[in-house]
Amino acid sequence: MYAVNMRNINSLGGKTVQVKLCVDPRVCKRGVHAVVPVPVLPHVHVGVVVRELEGFQSLNSVKLRVDTVEGDGRGVTFGRLRSVEECERVRNAPAMFELGGRSVIHVFDGFAKMHSVAIGQHGLNFSSAFLKSSSYTRSKKANRYAPSLTFLGVDPEFSELEKVEALLHPFDNTDVNVWKYGHGKNSVYAALTDEWVYAKFDLETLATTGVSIPPIDGVHFLTHFVQSCAHPLIEPGTNNSINYVLVPGLIPGQKQQYYVVRMMNLTSFEIIANFQTDKSTYMHSFGLTKNYVIFFAHPAIVSVEKMVTTVEVSEAMQWFPDEKTTIVVANIKTGKVEYLQHDAIFVTHHANAYETDDGKIIVDICASDDGISILTQYKIPLLRNQSDLYQSVAQTRFHRYTIDLANKSVETKTFRSKDPMQDFLHQIEVPIINENYRAQHYCYVYGVVLDFSPSNPVNGSLSIVKKNLCAPGKDQVWFHPNHHASEPSFVPNPDGKDEDDGVVLSSVFDAILEKNYLLILDGKTMKKINTAYMPTYIPFGFHGRFFS
Ligand SMILES: [Fe+2]
Repeated sequence: MYAVNMRNINSLGGKTVQVKLCVDPRVCKRGVHAVVPVPVLPHVHVGVVVRELEGFQSLNSVKLRVDTVEGDGRGVTFGRLRSVEECERVRNAPAMFELGGRSVIHVFDGFAKMHSVAIGQHGLNFSSAFLKSSSYTRSKKANRYAPSLTFLGVDPEFSELEKVEALLHPFDNTDVNVWKYGHGKNSVYAALTDEWVYAKFDLETLATTGVSIPPIDGVHFLTHFVQSCAHPLIEPGTNNSINYVLVPGLIPGQKQQYYVVRMMNLTSFEIIANFQTDKSTYMHSFGLTKNYVIFFAHPAIVSVEKMVTTVEVSEAMQWFPDEKTTIVVANIKTGKVEYLQHDAIFVTHHANAYETDDGKIIVDICASDDGISILTQYKIPLLRNQSDLYQSVAQTRFHRYTIDLANKSVETKTFRSKDPMQDFLHQIEVPIINENYRAQHYCYVYGVVLDFSPSNPVNGSLSIVKKNLCAPGKDQVWFHPNHHASEPSFVPNPDGKDEDDGVVLSSVFDAILEKNYLLILDGKTMKKINTAYMPTYIPFGFHGRFFS
């Protein structure tokens, strides 16, 4: 039980409930107090929470107590973050997996819920809210998981009639990432998935403000299912975002048309390049330098026909290990496109890319030689079964590709080590960097090794890795037994001069207490500066963004 000091309650059960929560009743100030029951949490498997979290919806805003590392010397609040003005870290995560006796089978299909930690001069505030996508709203209204395109289907499965119904609605359960479009007062925040659909939300309240599939001049969408990417990138030196859309060829032999789009905001776009592939390739991310956008059109092929008949993306996707990866390099200034062929490799995330003084292009990626089998790692029955989960080891590792357009050649470096710990750290995933070094020569990548095996060098905990690309063997790691980190954010010190001068933030699941906390690490030393426990857990998710 928590003692709650309730202030400014505008409407219980409405969208604007504000509840100040004092974790320690002994220090709560005088005022109206109520007792809010915290749900008794069943046993969970270490590291992964794939359970409904709707019960927390009504606690819209909760003040967090911030702990200070003993002897830290940086005061009692939150260390270097005090020098950063009002800012907010938002994470997106699937948080509801069953409704009305129908369950989803893959974590990708859980309904999106956003969780934010707002950081101000007076402390931290935690909020969370389900995204009111049409998929979520229809399902809640019907009190049953409503027909929709899914990644891996539902149990019990949709009837043939429901599959037809699924095709009539947009695929808008945007539970992968969040992004800011535009600049200043005109900024729009949206939740993203690998489709051209945007679920906009208010940064302060997390309230959903609308879902749109914006038209693009010059692109004829064949349906409202338009493949795009949940990892846009900021065009260097601008506030524009870069992304792509795919218009699949439906007639045998017809090329797949990819359009690279410059997004000034969510209503203003321009096509800056167009390229073709023989088959419809699923690409979850891409690279960007000052002059080029780089795509790895790997042989993860999606059959539009199968997707329409099964309404499942996974059923429609197939890996062809004997086929090549086509590396597409498009000049974002001229639109010129060049194609290079290389071995099959499945790219999950691009860390960074930049051009060297001698005209080469460096592309750093997390990728797997085993194709799309990594996607089966996140089936919910597997995540909920401890013995299965313990078999779930990291499947991707860090690679560096050096592209020489002048000679039409590609060199690859796969990061491997005979030292078990060093090799483990090379398997970094969900990579993030100091964004001031985007598209520039850089040294540091922060991320998490998604390896659940207790026999790994960090005893099955999900650790935070700092990979040093400029000093081999100098990678660093933070981990704590039974604590499981998620994709970090790097917040640079506004007055800092070094690339790693700043703090690393991560939402960490404490499997003993079954709660998450905000972890603040020193970006240089990877030592803990501070923590702030949240009054609940945050379900297992993949991405988020730090907005300042
Ligand atoms: Fe991703």
